[in-house]
Amino acid sequence: MKNWRSQILLTRKRLMSSFSYASQLTFFDVPVAEPVVNVASVPQRSPFRYPGGKTWLVPRVRQWLRSLAWKPSLFIEPFVGGGIIGLTVAFEQLASRVLLVERDDQVAAVWKTMLSDDDNEWLAQRILSFDLTHEHVLKELETRSASTKQKAFRAILKNRTFHGGIMAPGSSLIKNGEAGRGLRSRWYPMTLARRIRAIAQVRDHISFIEGDGLAVLQKYAGRDGAAFFIDPPYTAGGKRAGSRLYTYHDVDHPRIFDLAKRIDGDFLMTYDYAEEVVTLALQHGFKTRTVAMKNTHHAHMTELLIGRDLGWSE
Ligand SMILES: C[S@@+](CC[C@H](N)C(=O)[O-])C[C@H]1O[C@@H](n2cnc3c(N)ncnc32)[C@H](O)[C@@H]1O
Repeated sequence: MKNWRSQILLTRKRLMSSFSYASQLTFFDVPVAEPVVNVASVPQRSPFRYPGGKTWLVPRVRQWLRSLAWKPSLFIEPFVGGGIIGLTVAFEQLASRVLLVERDDQVAAVWKTMLSDDDNEWLAQRILSFDLTHEHVLKELETRSASTKQKAFRAILKNRTFHGGIMAPGSSLIKNGEAGRGLRSRWYPMTLARRIRAIAQVRDHISFIEGDGLAVLQKYAGRDGAAFFIDPPYTAGGKRAGSRLYTYHDVDHPRIFDLAKRIDGDFLMTYDYAEEVVTLALQHGFKTRTVAMKNTHHAHMTELLIGRDLGWSE
């Protein structure tokens, strides 16, 4: 895995020499971005405030799934994080079943608890009854209880009271927050409880695996009627945020592309725009398209969509 970047650069040189100047510009120069999606029009369904969350991509995912000549029998999200895409697919019945995968045990605890018959309501109640003060948050986060539901509560608490929703080592508590609300600026107990209870209503259609997304990708690639939304943590290019945002951020990207190539149904992948990712996509014969988005600091960023056929996005 260590040498994958140098291998990509080499392949990129080869690919570049085989394209005309015009196609080099199309593939490798500053991309032309599409208009920014209005996130306010998308129902928020996840209790997470997830770094790198894809709420802004929801309209595109709907477009993609509705463009297919078949309704997916299984929708798989191997790097689920806050899961807004998988939840939207479940709520809007865009696939018969949804399978979510996450490696981070804190995040996994939340999914397991929300999808559990017994503990979903416990989590909603725990959030509603928690008296959020600086002292109570610190005390709760110091607790080392092993139960999954308590771990889930701590993960939500951390996600909602730490800078940028970042739960990875090195993150810290919000100090001033929005409108002087400090620690409480992202703590909306009623809204969180409502979202958690709503997830209970669709839980029969959702399965969750705590584990490696690549292993699940490998296992289900050949599955007839499966559609995959692949949003891996991305750390290429040195300064990319992935390593700061997620506890697990080291992923074998060329392997993801190799596995995507084996998918029998269809897939949509998304990455921060980076030349080496475009190169990987070209190497595998995939199409790429750039879309504009605003990050949580309202800065305009360019994201890359990758698929076998992105005709639906025009
Ligand atoms: C870019 S984020 C996904 C964000 C998600 N699409 C959303 O809207 O919230 C990538 C996620 O992959 C998880 N992850 C990292 N390595 C993984 C692995 N090998 N298998 C499964 N999940 C992994 C990270 O913990 C992180 O939650």
